[in-house]
Amino acid sequence: MDKIRVGVLGATGLVGQVFTYILSEHPWFELSFLAASKASAGRRYGDVVKTYRPVPLPASVAEEIVVEGKPDDIPKDVEILFSALPSKIAGEMEVQLARKGFIVVSNASPLRLEDDVPLVNPEINLDHLQLLELQKRKRGWKGFIVKNPNCTTAILTLTLKPLLQEFGIRKVVMTSMQGLSGAGFPGVPALQIVDNIIPYIEGEEYKVEHETLKILGELDGDRVKEADIKVTATCTRVPVLDGHTEAVFVEFKRKACIEEVIQAFEEFRSKPQEMKLPSAPQRPIVVRHEKDRPQPRLDRWEGKGMSVVVGRIREDNTLNPGVKYLVTGHNLVRGAAGIAVLIAEAMVKLGYV
Ligand SMILES: NC(=O)c1ccc[n+]([C@@H]2O[C@H](COP(=O)([O-])OP(=O)(O)OC[C@H]3O[C@@H](n4cnc5c(N)ncnc54)[C@H](OP(=O)(O)O)[C@@H]3O)[C@@H](O)[C@H]2O)c1
Repeated sequence: MDKIRVGVLGATGLVGQVFTYILSEHPWFELSFLAASKASAGRRYGDVVKTYRPVPLPASVAEEIVVEGKPDDIPKDVEILFSALPSKIAGEMEVQLARKGFIVVSNASPLRLEDDVPLVNPEINLDHLQLLELQKRKRGWKGFIVKNPNCTTAILTLTLKPLLQEFGIRKVVMTSMQGLSGAGFPGVPALQIVDNIIPYIEGEEYKVEHETLKILGELDGDRVKEADIKVTATCTRVPVLDGHTEAVFVEFKRKACIEEVIQAFEEFRSKPQEMKLPSAPQRPIVVRHEKDRPQPRLDRWEGKGMSVVVGRIREDNTLNPGVKYLVTGHNLVRGAAGIAVLIAEAMVKLGYV
């Protein structure tokens, strides 16, 4: 098939760099333009890209000239726009682009919880893409907007899905230890984070608690019926460059032994794997059996950053019944650019593009 032309908004940032890295050699997508703020527009990408490099900078991309990304700047034959815009400006800008006819797959938080906006973690709820029909009717845009979850939520929900399927879930208690790149560039000042933990991330706990229920919810006609689970989160920032680690306590509806839980994680596969999408990891959840894993430095690149790594799976006598475990995932890949590309691949395969 001819490659589908795509562009990246917010291309010079941390998520934007991972987008350009993945898209520079993508089998279905051709990276056709890179957009950033007015300050970067008209300049060579290699000269304006942020100086923290989560992935190598492809030589061909470094030579591209950055544009501002207003609707009129974008070539008409570009079909998909991947957005890594700051949330403050994403809301209005993405709507303008969808109105003009572009398909926007976005990392930014505005609209994630709107009834007619699919919030997708592809191994869990690709069927929620059907909300695009409602979006079209309700908003009258020529294009549409699909969102990927907040990074912490993307990692958490991937581990919850097989547990929900196999054992039912009553309650989830999660504490995150989130890497620095999750805050974008330049992020948290060194004098605040070295030798320290910041016990608060603005807005993060609300996102985890609410987005989880939508993603794990069931499509019921024109709406998503939220999952009937109690979720509570504490989110912290730690001095790790990339990768979010989460300590998770899950109370089940039915009793399960640790071996069954391990089996549920290890055997979990879903539509992206069945459809053999280019960015789908072979094993979405990898279980490590050593007593000191997962660790972000060792595990964040599992499955090219698209798998999450679970370890320390234990029974817990405060749960009735349930398990506790730790999970590590790459916030910029499974939590941001990688998941958005996987969504777009699924949209192509399912005929939305
Ligand atoms: N970091 C993560 O792990 C993560 C995970 C999930 C979701 N997200 C979300 O993804 C988005 C991007 O995050 P990030 O970490 O990549 O942020 P970042 O490193 O701060 O990058 C922001 C990007 O937006 C561009 N930008 C800033 N102001 C703009 C404007 N007025 N018009 C057009 N472009 C503008 C910047 O361009 P210049 O270089 O020209 O300033 C840069 O390319 C945010 O909404 C964030 O919440 C991030």
